[in-house]
Amino acid sequence: MKTVFINCSPKKRFSASSYFLSLQRLFVGGTKVTETLRTPADHNRILEQLKDTDAVVFCLPLYVDGIPSHVLRFMLVMETFCRQNDLHFYLYCIANNGFIEGKQNEPLMHSFEHFCRRAGLSWGGGIGIGGGVMLNVTRILFAVDIAILILNTVLSVLNTGNFFPKDAWISFGENAALLLYFNLGVLFYMIRMGSAISSHKFFGKKYTRILIPSFVFIIFADIFFIIASLFEGGLFRGWLAKKTV
Ligand SMILES: Cc1cc2nc3c(=O)[nH]c(=O)nc-3n(C[C@H](O)[C@H](O)[C@H](O)COP(=O)(O)O)c2cc1C
Repeated sequence: MKTVFINCSPKKRFSASSYFLSLQRLFVGGTKVTETLRTPADHNRILEQLKDTDAVVFCLPLYVDGIPSHVLRFMLVMETFCRQNDLHFYLYCIANNGFIEGKQNEPLMHSFEHFCRRAGLSWGGGIGIGGGVMLNVTRILFAVDIAILILNTVLSVLNTGNFFPKDAWISFGENAALLLYFNLGVLFYMIRMGSAISSHKFFGKKYTRILIPSFVFIIFADIFFIIASLFEGGLFRGWLAKKTV
């Protein structure tokens, strides 16, 4: 059984779509192929992968309550390709958005459902995830937690010879549990959708979000966007982008 995962975020690195794609991959069996869709140059390569696949999972951001235009352009080509090659695989979708409610992805899900009908594919359903940006940040925080734990262990070994600093481990465990909790809704549906993908079954449309109260989300989102605007939007990407001379 083969599944093609398509990361449709236009971002080259650290996209929320790549995070959710990696998570979903964990719960799907068989051969797994990951593709990125950013420009028309990617079309033919992805279409070739579709010829012998059993399932396709689109992982994409919500743009203006709909499908990003570069993905729509690919879907037009894909529709013709699937009809010409008589393809009928299952299509699933994982859509994430910046605002907190995953339900905002409903119109996007409808678009995919109609697309499947037109292209002759089997609509498998999908997951709409709210607070995608913030959930994506949890993986960065987890990496930071691991770095702090390693640092504390090194300092503990140097200062006292103790290889197991208990307080540092307790603090790491608490932080990791909190980050896991934020992701629980996503993980719950991904485990279930993974089983549907692996057994070629209809999953349906499910919506979830980062598991924090909305008023907390708004405070953090406001702080994040004020800081991001001070850096003209390129808060992290600007730092990590390759410099052109
Ligand atoms: C052009 C544009 C339009 C967007 N429109 C919406 C929207 O309508 N609703 C929403 O909740 N988030 C919207 N967002 C936020 C993205 O959905 C969000 O940042 C998402 O996590 C990006 O996913 P990615 O990192 O995989 O690209 C928009 C972002 C951009 C750049």
